[in-house]
Amino acid sequence: MLSRRQLLQSLIAAMALPTQILQAKGLLPHRFIVPPLAQSRREGNDLFFDLNIQAGLSRFFSNATTKTWGINMPFLGETLRANKGDRVHINVKNSLPETTTLHWHGMKLPAREDGGPHQPVAPNATWLSEFDIIQPAATTWYHSHQLHRTGSQVYKGLAGLFIIDDKEADALHLPSEYGVDDFPVVIQDRTFQRDGSFSYVRSMRDRVMGKTGNVILVNGVVKPTLTTNKPLIRLRILNGSNSRIYQLAFDDKRSFHIIGSDGGLLEKPLKSNSVQLAPGERAEVLVDISDGGVPTLINQPNQNSRRLEPSGMMQMMAAPDKRFSIFQIDARGVDKIQATIPDNLVVHQKTDMQVSQKRHLKLQAQMGPAMMSGRGLSINGKRMDMNRIDEIVKAGSLEVWTVTNSSMMPHPLHIHNAQFKIIGKQGRILEHETGFKDTVLLEPRGSMQLLIHFPDYKDEKRPYMYHCHNLEHEDQGMMGQFLVV
Ligand code: C2O
Ligand code: CU
Ligand code: CU
Repeated sequence: MLSRRQLLQSLIAAMALPTQILQAKGLLPHRFIVPPLAQSRREGNDLFFDLNIQAGLSRFFSNATTKTWGINMPFLGETLRANKGDRVHINVKNSLPETTTLHWHGMKLPAREDGGPHQPVAPNATWLSEFDIIQPAATTWYHSHQLHRTGSQVYKGLAGLFIIDDKEADALHLPSEYGVDDFPVVIQDRTFQRDGSFSYVRSMRDRVMGKTGNVILVNGVVKPTLTTNKPLIRLRILNGSNSRIYQLAFDDKRSFHIIGSDGGLLEKPLKSNSVQLAPGERAEVLVDISDGGVPTLINQPNQNSRRLEPSGMMQMMAAPDKRFSIFQIDARGVDKIQATIPDNLVVHQKTDMQVSQKRHLKLQAQMGPAMMSGRGLSINGKRMDMNRIDEIVKAGSLEVWTVTNSSMMPHPLHIHNAQFKIIGKQGRILEHETGFKDTVLLEPRGSMQLLIHFPDYKDEKRPYMYHCHNLEHEDQGMMGQFLVV
């Protein structure tokens, strides 16, 4: 039995609980920043953007500045937004001292507009990329794709979001007010030197496993707090890190609904309390915070993950997957109205086409001296060669690609100009893996079958890429080229 005094004390404690918890946990110190929408000029269905790739200075900590790169801003890029059916005309100016590119990751588009390594933009030059948006509402992104320099250029900040809207998605009345109840969440990890500058690849471990950092940024801010009064918010999460894989969850174990994958909305919201994202992958989630809570999104290493334990040299070099916080939501001032989540989202039309071709991509890592000298990673035994075409695909055709990872490390495979379905996987198909994908994580020794319907765009000369989206792996040549003819 509680005494009167104990009862009184526990009542007072209960009343004071919110602040006490906050003090104990410490509200994360920085304000959540939403990258501004890029200005555009519309003429009917034609939408014109001007992008300037520029150097700048950023302040991630109060006592130091960092030299960074960005697109129309000092670090990261403004968010592009267009409708399905629009034709975008993007004028890309390179104001950097080195050659770069801007690749539209997740877009179906002609090869010459892709912004891959075959569309370099020299210092002071401009590149005009023009294409029709032929795919449904989705959260796609863009980033540098300069040969051998993608890792370092993205690390400095050359990445941003490209959101596609369409009527079908609008009709669902999902939270869609940008920066109000619909938030981009670009998660990246960085290492800083004492003087505030970024520290890029410096060790054998960084080269072999990919660069990971010990500071987590969300939209370029260290562990921010997002204050909102909306009971239901939508997060468009991009893992924009070079190599780190996240298992995202909330510290109060609340569940959320996954509504979208790389290529757009799922057929139905899928309830979950975690979502795994490898570099390049996106997930859209709805979070019900009508309880006025203060949850923190954390990285929660998955105890029962099927990822094989690294062994040998891998064990020595694998970063221990720790629990850490990413950003916080402060919904204490929430409007206490019920959040409603639709039962159904969109229908993914099944194709009745015949599969015309099967291909096999073998992701391989050769350990020992080859790996140490940066030549150990390959696809089908080959390293990237700008002058070699690896595969030739027929435009408009349906193909099945079997991807196997024979190595002891995970590799996120990305294919340009495609949104595919996973039709087979060794291990559990995750919630967001049921949707359209352009990037998928191959676990060590894992395999997948991908059903890919290629768009009608043809180009006899200019290839698209497929590659590991661990950017250090990509830069070491874990990439191949395919033509669509
Ligand atoms: Cu996100 Cu080929 O890249
Ligand atoms: Cu891409
Ligand atoms: Cu890889």
